[in-house]
Amino acid sequence: MKNLKLIKVESPTQGAEQVYEIIKDELESGRLNVLGLATGSTMVPIYDKWIESDLDFTNIVTFNLDEYIGIPASSPNSYAYFMNEHLFDKKEFRKTNIPDGMAEDLAEECEAYEELLQEYPLDLQLLGVGENGHIAFNEPGTSFDSVTHVARLTESTLGVNSQYFENDEKIPETALTMGISSILGAKKLVLLAFGEKKRAAITKLLEGDVTVEWPITKLLRHDDVTVITDLEI
Ligand code: GLP
Repeated sequence: MKNLKLIKVESPTQGAEQVYEIIKDELESGRLNVLGLATGSTMVPIYDKWIESDLDFTNIVTFNLDEYIGIPASSPNSYAYFMNEHLFDKKEFRKTNIPDGMAEDLAEECEAYEELLQEYPLDLQLLGVGENGHIAFNEPGTSFDSVTHVARLTESTLGVNSQYFENDEKIPETALTMGISSILGAKKLVLLAFGEKKRAAITKLLEGDVTVEWPITKLLRHDDVTVITDLEI
């Protein structure tokens, strides 16, 4: 798998240091203008590290992968809130973009988001992975040709993600998400996976077979992928 660089670390903190080095290099070389961001606990140490650093993002445009449908940005359960709390309130960017899960016309919102992505092609996309191998909210079975769309979450994802839901708000069963094709359009992909719960997904990826049942495996068809993990596979 010569397109895939595997970096083994001892902890999420070490993983965050690796991401920091990659981002620093990309910024210094001038290659990084449009940055794809992700949510989830995996991303927290990464954003913490950026905040305490002198990395300058003031010329950087960001795009987030996904957002729940029907949860306002003011709710602590929304991904917009997560991003503000963990990064955007503490570090300045040129412009940040997150799909609007409260949009009246969701199809129109998806189309507009995808158009923006065409206008500002992603230089680097950060990715986590779901326990079932989903990337963003592209669940098993999602077409590899998918662009930004409305996704229905699987029981597995609803179970895992609802643990983080606060204030008795019910987890939405649908979300807006960049598609697999939108994500693969990024010039560089950096995926992080920590802990035993991610073992099945990383094992599938490293086995080398590309299957829609494990969306993560589509990364094997990209020519610049870095995987940072603490798992011994
Ligand atoms: C959510 C997001 C994914 C993310 C995943 C993993 O489902 N939509 O983009 O990769 O969570 O989250 P965590 O980092 O908390 O394991």
